[in-house]
Amino acid sequence: MSAQGGDTGPPSASSSQTAERPRNVGEMLERARAFLERKGVEEARLDADLLVAHALEVDRLHLLLRLEEPVAEEELVRARSLLQRRAATEPVAYITGAREFYGRSFGVCSGVLIPRPETELIVDLARDHLADREQAPRILDIGTGSGCLAITLALEVSSATVHAVDVSGEALEVARANATSLDAEVTWLEQDGLQAAGDGAPWDLIVCNPPYVNPAERESLAPEVRDHEPAGALFAPEDDVHYWVRSLAQGARGWLRSGGLMLVELGHEQGPAALELGRQADPEARVEQDLAGIPRVLVLGA
Ligand SMILES: C[S@@+](CC[C@H](N)C(=O)[O-])C[C@H]1O[C@@H](n2cnc3c(N)ncnc32)[C@H](O)[C@@H]1O
Repeated sequence: MSAQGGDTGPPSASSSQTAERPRNVGEMLERARAFLERKGVEEARLDADLLVAHALEVDRLHLLLRLEEPVAEEELVRARSLLQRRAATEPVAYITGAREFYGRSFGVCSGVLIPRPETELIVDLARDHLADREQAPRILDIGTGSGCLAITLALEVSSATVHAVDVSGEALEVARANATSLDAEVTWLEQDGLQAAGDGAPWDLIVCNPPYVNPAERESLAPEVRDHEPAGALFAPEDDVHYWVRSLAQGARGWLRSGGLMLVELGHEQGPAALELGRQADPEARVEQDLAGIPRVLVLGA
């Protein structure tokens, strides 16, 4: 592969192709970007930056400070392997093993959903709701995955007692490791989320980003999602995209303390139906939009 393009591989590390070796980090980066573009990767420039930075064991900012530096053979080998994985549709977060959420880095692996920026809206709404509370709130995160919501809430609302539940033992292992590295205190439960919600004292806040993708739409998903993220984190159970909203709305009044709140993330076309289901439980239920203007979070009170 050359900086001018027209070839097929990522920055070459093969000593038999010495002529093709990039002269410096900047050239390697250009070749990496061009390679991913040719492979049809949507955010080729960003992904190339992140993967080359990962190969060089620096962050993206420091990568840009190294553009004139030569590239070591082992750095080339590492970069090549990472870029090939990305070209084969593996998400960057699984390749680097991390994704940022609400300004903190969360470890991820193929057993957990990669945290999404739109889920940060739940944290904003939770913080607003709990801002003037004098008593320490009890919070439950249903379907915690990487623990991104539970851990962020534990750190942002320092007085809170946070419990998090998931049916996936693998997810809980990742979540526990994230809590340790981010120094957050959360009680982890491996059981069904609806069961956990009804156990023990009522909650001040229940948050949930449930699996809400229609299984019938599996083939229309991006391969990054369909072929790499865990099915149990993506697809709505019982072929019913409203299973979680219906079940959570029905339980809300019994599980929440008076004045408590439930926040449920929705798929991008689920707002109107979710609002209707929510209003059967709470006439004042509303749906909040994310930064892209998509109805994203169902807000239910008790
Ligand atoms: C869409 S992911 C959300 C992960 C994380 N909260 C986030 O926002 O990135 C849904 C999670 O719910 C979990 N899950 C699925 N069914 C469940 C159930 N019945 N009870 C508890 N968790 C469940 C999955 O294992 C998965 O980790």
